[in-house]
Amino acid sequence: MWRALLARRGGARAALPAPADAQAALLRDLFAPLTEPPVAADGAFVTAHLAQSLDGRIATAAGVSRWISGAADITHTHRLRALHHAIIVGAGTVKHDDPRLTTREVEGQCPVRVVLDTDRRLHHGHLVFQDGLPTLLACAEDAASPCGGAEILRLPRAERGLDLRALVAALRARGLTHLFVEGGGVTVGRFLAAGLIDRLHVAVAPLLLGSGIPSLALPGIDRPEQGIRFPMVVHRLGDDMLFDCAIDRRTTS
Ligand SMILES: NC(=O)c1ccc[n+]([C@@H]2O[C@H](COP(=O)([O-])OP(=O)(O)OC[C@H]3O[C@@H](n4cnc5c(N)ncnc54)[C@H](OP(=O)(O)O)[C@@H]3O)[C@@H](O)[C@H]2O)c1
Repeated sequence: MWRALLARRGGARAALPAPADAQAALLRDLFAPLTEPPVAADGAFVTAHLAQSLDGRIATAAGVSRWISGAADITHTHRLRALHHAIIVGAGTVKHDDPRLTTREVEGQCPVRVVLDTDRRLHHGHLVFQDGLPTLLACAEDAASPCGGAEILRLPRAERGLDLRALVAALRARGLTHLFVEGGGVTVGRFLAAGLIDRLHVAVAPLLLGSGIPSLALPGIDRPEQGIRFPMVVHRLGDDMLFDCAIDRRTTS
């Protein structure tokens, strides 16, 4: 099943096998849409994933997030990486986690890593800048000069951070149309607020942190009906619950 999905992602368009068991059905439901061409006007398909505690934290107050969700969700995250062309993370995630952002848990190619660091505050010693795999560092047009380890992508500023529509357009121009936003909460929130998320996967772990770094951060609203409502399917991933949210971009932009 997984090989068939990878083959479709690679353009071979092998037929999806009928779901023989719960695992096959899960793979089909969660990943088959990612193997189709994007339908949004910008030509991109954007998926985001966050793993959070039941009380809505993606990391402790000290910024530690390893590990909130269990092994099944980590494998799921690596599968998402393998089915996208690029993984996007905020500078806060690189600073705290120093992640490699590879697909080592599953078959499939590593996507291009894209780090959003508006004012070029990250140190060049982080793993994504040192391991030789393709990495783009997106920063503001007027940010300080680069210090090596990644190709620089200069973008206009938005009210907060970078102009994410310009980012999506720049990645599409490089043939990167399937984009995976892997955190943190500020970055996923900015994509959502910009109307740029097609699918949002939230893994909720049976864990209470009580305090810490919040999950999604969005501009404040006054009434519940101003919130973003969407169709949602819930899957069990080990001890965690995965909420697969189909966001209609027209309702968020
Ligand atoms: N559980 C999960 O699924 C998950 C996933 C990813 C990360 N995390 C955790 O989430 C936390 C990070 O998330 P986040 O929402 O705070 O941030 P984030 O989304 O990773 O990064 C965005 C923030 O980083 C700022 N930033 C830019 N350069 C920086 C630098 N050099 N040092 C520090 N911040 C910088 C950005 O500022 P600008 O306004 O300049 O753009 C923006 O506010 C980490 O603790 C990480 O462990 C958890």
